Amino acid sequence: MEKKNIDWANLGFGYMQTDKRYVSNYKNGAWSEGALIEDDTITISECACVLQYAQTCFEGLKAYTTEDGHIVTFRPDLNAQRMEDTAKRLEMPVFPKERFLEAIVKVVEANEAYVPPYGSGATLYIRPYMFGSNAVIGVKPADEYQFRVFTTPVGPYFKGGIKPLTLRVSDYDRAAPHGTGNIKAGLNYAMSLYPIVDAHRQGFDENMYLDAATRTKVEETGGANFLFVTKDGTVVTPKSNSILPSITRRSLMYVAKEILGLKTEEREVYFEEVKDFAECGLCGTAAVISPVGKINDHGKEICFPSGMTEMGEITKKLYDTLTGIQMGRIEAPEGWIKVIK
Ligand code: PLP
Ligand code: COI
Repeated sequence: MEKKNIDWANLGFGYMQTDKRYVSNYKNGAWSEGALIEDDTITISECACVLQYAQTCFEGLKAYTTEDGHIVTFRPDLNAQRMEDTAKRLEMPVFPKERFLEAIVKVVEANEAYVPPYGSGATLYIRPYMFGSNAVIGVKPADEYQFRVFTTPVGPYFKGGIKPLTLRVSDYDRAAPHGTGNIKAGLNYAMSLYPIVDAHRQGFDENMYLDAATRTKVEETGGANFLFVTKDGTVVTPKSNSILPSITRRSLMYVAKEILGLKTEEREVYFEEVKDFAECGLCGTAAVISPVGKINDHGKEICFPSGMTEMGEITKKLYDTLTGIQMGRIEAPEGWIKVIK
């Protein structure tokens, strides 16, 4: 398979149209067989539920080329499960898990020429999504849906690759206490657009959201969970019902405990404690682990001892182990790697 002539090393996190995408339609209570198509556009009713009431959800995972030349994905079964959880919360039909996994394989195979080579620093981002497609004017769920999967080669989510980030504490909330923060609904990201643009305007890379009810506890950023490391080397991650259950975070906590032999804690994290941590990182499929160097709380700076030039020592160990597993350099825990080719 000849690869496309792409400057892999200089890719950012952007959209590039690839050759094929997977589509299945839901109508009269059933999903159609599904097919790979070339058309990257969608035509739907002007009154489609997705356009009027934001009935849409998505997932994000990546395909990697391993050291020995295979193409693999990382724990796609967990993306399938999370999309099921999300669909139920949004009154959308569930796209069956086996079919979700099959669709991922088909789309990656069909776009093999866009899977970045091993060692290029890039990966193929896979975006499954679903939306209510028929006309709905009263507030109710659609009866018809489309499930699609497209791919796009990507580089680092944050400009500057793994240079430590500067965050600010947001005055806006991302999710309500009993809302939709724990699912991957498009509406959560719509909520975060103003705060992220405003953060960038003010010179920050991302927002740290606090819990909406008390504004005392750390939640997450617009697109990643937090990991902290205490001065005595314990890896701590916030527990909350209104953050997305990140697959990367769950994997890293396992890596920390079972592979690196570190102490781990998933618990409520008070903002007040943040100044005492030694390291801080953002984790997610897109973010991998992006180190945080500084957090600005309304003009007051919290500077982590790990500094503004490099990843903290434990963050780096977690990063190397996770990416080592994903790229086939380190043996993966049972069931984590799905070989596509
Ligand atoms: N939090 C939010 C809000 C996200 O959008 C994402 C990305 O999917 C994550 C966390 C990280 O989740 P995962 O590791 O499953 O990609
Ligand atoms: C991901 O990491 O896959 C996400 O969906 C985050 C998004 C903000 C790009």
